[in-house]
Amino acid sequence: MTVAALGGLVAASALAGCGDGGGGSGDSLTLGFSQVGAESGWRTANTKSIQESAKQAGIDLKFSDAQGKQENQIKAIRSFITQRVDVIAFSPVVESGWETVLKEAKDADIPVILTDRAIDSPDKSLYKTFIGSDFVLEGKKAGEWLVKEYEGQDDPVNIAELQGTPGAAPANDRKAGFADVIKAEPKFKVIASQTGDFTRTGGKQVMETFLKAHPDIDVLYAHNDDMGLGAIEAIEAAGKKPGTDIKIITVDAVHDGMQALADGKINYIVECSPLLGPQLMDLAKKVNAGEEVPQRVLTEETTFTQDQAQEALPDRKY
Ligand code: AHR
Repeated sequence: MTVAALGGLVAASALAGCGDGGGGSGDSLTLGFSQVGAESGWRTANTKSIQESAKQAGIDLKFSDAQGKQENQIKAIRSFITQRVDVIAFSPVVESGWETVLKEAKDADIPVILTDRAIDSPDKSLYKTFIGSDFVLEGKKAGEWLVKEYEGQDDPVNIAELQGTPGAAPANDRKAGFADVIKAEPKFKVIASQTGDFTRTGGKQVMETFLKAHPDIDVLYAHNDDMGLGAIEAIEAAGKKPGTDIKIITVDAVHDGMQALADGKINYIVECSPLLGPQLMDLAKKVNAGEEVPQRVLTEETTFTQDQAQEALPDRKY
């Protein structure tokens, strides 16, 4: 190898934020993983699951944090291609704009696994499999709880919605699934809907503006726990009681969200499991061995009421 080529590899490795390497034993599988960032409790638990499972599976993990930026993910994927990793996996920040870089991976003969979030390309040959939740179904479950909660009541129900990161699959799909269910009953009115970027700070700031503009909010639907938790701070600061004056539905069921649910500050949580690590390592091994894998691997998930949260909390893993 020339000195220039070696320099390129070192630079590429630094760029990818070479994390948790399994010691580079030579014949072990090397997995390049590009993570969205650290925007939420869900993401932190997801990163931990991936890093721990890689270690357990003896997989050499090159972990890269994109800090919420698609351009960083594209750079990381290109760097994984340069490093000739065996498999690339990533959780796409947004749904669109991946074709070019994924074609580069395909041309380099490096299989790609999508985790957690989908891309919107019709070309399914760009990746081997996609493991993650059904976000539309999550939105539907949130809507179904609401419909039941207000069953038999004719008064209008004013809903504020905190959306996830613009263009991200969970933001698009959770919005669509929820809208699809509540549209059957005209009493449900989404009077405010804005992004809080899946963060606690975002949820708090946007909720403050919602509360000023709309003193008559009955329900908050937040696309994740963190935004819901931020909104709770804003609601309390405005002198209202979260869970009572404003009913709150969120998605994820991370520990802090479950605690708020058990404490009566959230009314319902739709679970979205971040513990994708073990299945991802399994799929990476299979894909690397040239075995057939299903195009879509769905995660199993449930929902929680306040009573169920109290029961589940002691054994909750994230
Ligand atoms: O893609 C999964 C979503 O991303 C989680 O629901 C949210 O908390 C995270 O930021």
